[in-house]
Amino acid sequence: MNCFARITGTGSYLPAKAVTNHDLENTVDTSDQWIRERTGIAVRHIASDDETTCDLAEQAARRAMEAAGKTAADIDLIIVATTTPDKIFPSTACLLQARLDVHGCAAFDIQAVCTGFVYALGVADKFIRGGGAKCALVVGAETLSRIVDWTYRTTCVLFGDGAGAAILEASDEPGILSSHLHADGEYEKLLHVPGGVSRKPGPLEGDPGFIQMKGNEVFRMAVNTLGRIVDETLEANGLEKSDIDWLVPHQANIRIISATAKKLAMPMERVVVTVDQHGNTSAASVPLALDTAVRDGRIQRGETLLLEAFGGGFTWGSVLLKF
Ligand code: UT7
Repeated sequence: MNCFARITGTGSYLPAKAVTNHDLENTVDTSDQWIRERTGIAVRHIASDDETTCDLAEQAARRAMEAAGKTAADIDLIIVATTTPDKIFPSTACLLQARLDVHGCAAFDIQAVCTGFVYALGVADKFIRGGGAKCALVVGAETLSRIVDWTYRTTCVLFGDGAGAAILEASDEPGILSSHLHADGEYEKLLHVPGGVSRKPGPLEGDPGFIQMKGNEVFRMAVNTLGRIVDETLEANGLEKSDIDWLVPHQANIRIISATAKKLAMPMERVVVTVDQHGNTSAASVPLALDTAVRDGRIQRGETLLLEAFGGGFTWGSVLLKF
């Protein structure tokens, strides 16, 4: 009897164009030192003008499928977490489905901003446990550079583009142990892009199309909320802090990551940190970090991983899994 959803392959992709902190020193009033000290970011990758979220998603998806030894015929569910879809519709998941030559299975997007991949994993887990899918492709992909005001130093140094993916398969061996998904829409104004489809001015016209954030307040909420989700996850599974082998956090700010690691009493050697290499890639950040540590051999089969994220909405969540 298959009762678990287990990650059997991961993949990720960063666009070729790298923008360093020194590059940004030439365009806004900032410094490499400020960005490194306050955020931990050294470089971010930016999609070229003709590259879309689906392009990045496709690269990551193909790598995850290859790692899991799966072909298009095996995939029976596609979920893409993104805040920056190629089109208003069809969903990026449907566009990706066509690219991969997958036909007929359910395919849909999830919009939970930086918590998107954690949400998508949680939903895919429920599909698999409920018997609705056997082999899910779960992707987090973003071209956040399109909704960043590149003249505004407070936000433009923080974000980047990228994609990460995982294949999740039904298994009788332990995989995802629990997922914990939360939101509170009351905090809309602390982190948002005011422009939209139904709201005037129209889709992503001018300033309303850019990320607006009250950084300090978001920072405080993120640290407190992620501390609580760690407790909730451990308690739900009857585990101690010391039972977690790896923390794979959302990569927004090294100071938020360190605070969560401290809460778990985890040395930073057991925390996957990639924020220095790509900045905040929203829904792509957790799977980018996961794939990095899987491919470089740090994360081993049988280890216990805690994935967590916090983002616009606010949304927040965690997934505890045996890898
Ligand atoms: O993905 C989930 C959502 N996002 C996050 O989790 C982000 C959460 N917030 C943060 O990571 C941090 O709040 C930031 C990195 C955005 C800002 O760091 P901070 O330590 O909270 O800085 P601050 O906003 O308090 O600004 C401190 C100073 C200000 O100058 P004054 O008023 O002290 O003279 C800013 O104007 O730093 C200035 N500043 C900058 N200086 C150089 C703001 N941005 C920059 C910059 N370069 N890029």
